[in-house]
Amino acid sequence: MASTESAQAVAREVESLRAQLEQWNHQYHVLDAPSVPDSEYDRCLQRLLELEQRHPELQSPDSPSQRVGGTPLAQFEQVTHELPMLSLGNAFSAEDMLSFNRRLLERLGLADGDEESALEFACEPKLDGIAVSLLYSEGQLQRAATRGDGSTGEDITHNVRTIGSIPLRLRGTGFPDLLEVRGEIYMPRKGFEAMNAEARARGEKPFVNPRNAAAGSLRQLDPRITAQRPLQMCCYSVGLVRGGELPDRQSDILQQLGEWGLRINSETAVVKGIDACNQYYEELAARRDQLPYDIDGIVFKVNATSQQERLGFVSRAPRWAIARKFPAQEEVTRLLDVEFQVGRTGAITPVARLEPVFVGGVTVSNATLHNADEIERLGVQIGDAVVVRRAGDVIPQVVSVLKERRPAKAGGDIVFPDACPVCGSSVEREEGEAVWRCMGGLICAAQRKAAIRHFASRRAMDIDGLGDKLVEQLVDAGLVEGVAGLYALTREQLVALERMGEKSAENLLAALDASKDTTLQRFIFALGIREVGEATALNLARHFGNWDALQAASEEELLQVNDVGPVVADHLRQFFDSAANMAVVHALRDAGVRWQDLEPVADDLQVLDGQTWVVTGKLEALSRDEAKAALQRLGAKVAGSVSGKTDCVVAGPGAGSKLEKANELGVKVIDEEALLTLLRDHGVAP
Ligand code: IVH
Repeated sequence: MASTESAQAVAREVESLRAQLEQWNHQYHVLDAPSVPDSEYDRCLQRLLELEQRHPELQSPDSPSQRVGGTPLAQFEQVTHELPMLSLGNAFSAEDMLSFNRRLLERLGLADGDEESALEFACEPKLDGIAVSLLYSEGQLQRAATRGDGSTGEDITHNVRTIGSIPLRLRGTGFPDLLEVRGEIYMPRKGFEAMNAEARARGEKPFVNPRNAAAGSLRQLDPRITAQRPLQMCCYSVGLVRGGELPDRQSDILQQLGEWGLRINSETAVVKGIDACNQYYEELAARRDQLPYDIDGIVFKVNATSQQERLGFVSRAPRWAIARKFPAQEEVTRLLDVEFQVGRTGAITPVARLEPVFVGGVTVSNATLHNADEIERLGVQIGDAVVVRRAGDVIPQVVSVLKERRPAKAGGDIVFPDACPVCGSSVEREEGEAVWRCMGGLICAAQRKAAIRHFASRRAMDIDGLGDKLVEQLVDAGLVEGVAGLYALTREQLVALERMGEKSAENLLAALDASKDTTLQRFIFALGIREVGEATALNLARHFGNWDALQAASEEELLQVNDVGPVVADHLRQFFDSAANMAVVHALRDAGVRWQDLEPVADDLQVLDGQTWVVTGKLEALSRDEAKAALQRLGAKVAGSVSGKTDCVVAGPGAGSKLEKANELGVKVIDEEALLTLLRDHGVAP
């Protein structure tokens, strides 16, 4: 008797843990509103895993414990879609939309141009991912499949279970006995970028775009890999429905799906009339780059299902819906040449010269090839047909090569220069780094020009009117050797330059004069010391208060400064130890560059002051509490859940939803070893 009772108690506890975990999971992944610290979630999950292990008879495929990824498959099974998964007709302009509307009105026997008969449309972003079908039986996720060719896809249930925004069982009540939900699985951009950065750091091949990354993640036989990928799903329609009723408008169906716990795109809207559709398109097109995921257009659907039924289908697409496509973000063009640019720190960047092509809304004729490894990975040759991508404000890049279109007389492999293309100095690459650098320092005209551009820039000395072209002219004409030379320029020298009038010369001299009155932090930043950005310059200025103290500081003293680690301290010391650099600083001060010294801030300010950290997964050398205490000693707040306010996540093996969230939000992630290094560097390792 006692044993049945306790078995019942265990079953009840398992059930209540599952309900609780799914509730939190839904709040976190579907509503974007985390409600408990991750530690609480993890504790419940651990308890559930423990009980399920002790009572295997209670295991269930819809348990939240199944989300971590089970045993790998040997192969994918084929799935036949009982109702085929359709495609959509396309529109490329406002006129195409008007014709679409005319066709609809004609078939429905409604008058064109009259307010009364304007159709109601559901407007939905067209997510650029992978179309999938989810089959729920009695509310339980039974099977997930890719669209495939529309009739037959692949069974990806094992992978889909690991995606946090997909409920393993539907919430609430009133769902049909059998319900097929369709939607798009995609990878948000931040997660994609973080994942690629990690892949590059490991020397692995990055994914070309978020869509390929999503597809590749779903094509894994091992669900534990998929579980690590920052995937999401938004639902946009239903397929099979048996034993139940759904609302009679597309927008209401989506809302109902949302109530059952599925994720619906938050940009969806209902509008009346085709003009409003075009307006919706324009508005979203303008915000496209700010969305956290890629979309390739907008889908417009006649909202009333009764009208949808009357309109029916043509071949494999519904007559009642259309996808208005955005201008492509990827185009094919030809690689004309590769040039090697030298930056301020000597970094050599290969730049592709392209046959001009219209992509992402502008004409592009240059694209970055990043570095030598990237050229090798692409295997690109001069003359190749290449795919160029320009998304948002990101610099255009060559993402792939169409090798099958390689001309017979392509230019052969691209050879990375073994000397600086500008000054001929040797090039070197540091252990573990991808970039080659020119070792010429300020001998190199390219580095000199870049140093002057940086010195003059708005956040540095803010020399108004000293643009890139002028810097180029000044260095090429031999008028300016380095930054100090700027203050020796005369009116006569300037007016003798091409395209320089009396007035511009006067203005430039006045701007140079005005720039001399600066702040210590701007001056430090303006010098362009490697890895010393604005924030570090400010910390240095506040810590030392004056130049002489900074310049005399030992590496150890430099390490006391917020944000300064061994690498930065080393760059600073190297800079101060160079007689040439110090001569420049003297010359600048002699020319009259000046600032007010600061009251040094006592360094009771901690390195992690004001930061929020999260610790997740299993740590080996430290207990979680030790890690937490050490981080707090450095001034950090240690939180239980990851949000946009998180500065850094420490992730050990087995990290799950928090790591996923961090990747999704582009939050910095470090491992235990990096944490230990940080703690040791600041003398707080236990
Ligand atoms: S409706 C019956 N709605 O676009 C209509 N499709 O060619 C079938 N897609 O690969 C699709 N967002 O995965 C629909 N809000 C949305 C969509 C959407 C993206 C994809 C879909 C399919 C393609 C249709």
